[in-house]
Amino acid sequence: MSAPTPHIEAKPGDYAKTVLMPGDPLRAKFVAETFFTDAVQVNGVRGMLGFTGTYKGVPVSVQGSGMGIPSIGIYSYELFHFYGVENIIRIGTAGSLQPGLRIGDLVLAQGACTNSGYAAQFGLPGTMAPIASWSLLKDAWDAAREKGCPCTVGNVLSSDCFYDASSPAKKWADMGVLAIEMEAAALYLNAIHAGKNALAILTVSDEVFTGRETTAQERQTSFTRMMEVALETAVRQARGKEG
Ligand code: HPA
Repeated sequence: MSAPTPHIEAKPGDYAKTVLMPGDPLRAKFVAETFFTDAVQVNGVRGMLGFTGTYKGVPVSVQGSGMGIPSIGIYSYELFHFYGVENIIRIGTAGSLQPGLRIGDLVLAQGACTNSGYAAQFGLPGTMAPIASWSLLKDAWDAAREKGCPCTVGNVLSSDCFYDASSPAKKWADMGVLAIEMEAAALYLNAIHAGKNALAILTVSDEVFTGRETTAQERQTSFTRMMEVALETAVRQARGKEG
């Protein structure tokens, strides 16, 4: 297969080297409208919006992933393999599994445990540990520090189930897992297998054990901060590669 694909109508070259990837396509539109100069829509297939523009003079794209491992598996695979994308930074939400992690806090997902069978396709003779790109993780950490934006680095769980009859949260929490979301593991596996880079930057949108959820105001403020950290990471990647 080559570009365009059944899921992405963009032409080869339409995406920048670094792509921010929110689950929600309308959040992709928000990123493009709020932060990009000269934003151009490059995808609209299935309403899964994608845009390319510049941020601080650096070409950057943003592309919705949809929810869950199969969906981000498709979009990230196609961007890495058919559009020459080098870096994908997921910007998403997660449910906190640790008492110290509260609504609005940022998590950099160093690793992504999973209950998904996604890694089975690689036929590995053991258990793969999907990890973030060190280069992106370091740049995101530095960008967050520079913005005075506290963040926690560690393991997350990428679950196949939002509604999970087996209630696994306590067991993962006991293993030190910070938060639960539904995409990072597939993104990391695709990036590693393609020889590319990926990172998930997550905002805590709900606290699994207290049941506390984000208010609209908290959501907007903390999401905007997460987007800025991701964009600064893209700038650091571009400038690092220049120098
Ligand atoms: N579970 C799974 N995914 C999530 C959650 C959650 O509690 N919160 C935000 N994304």
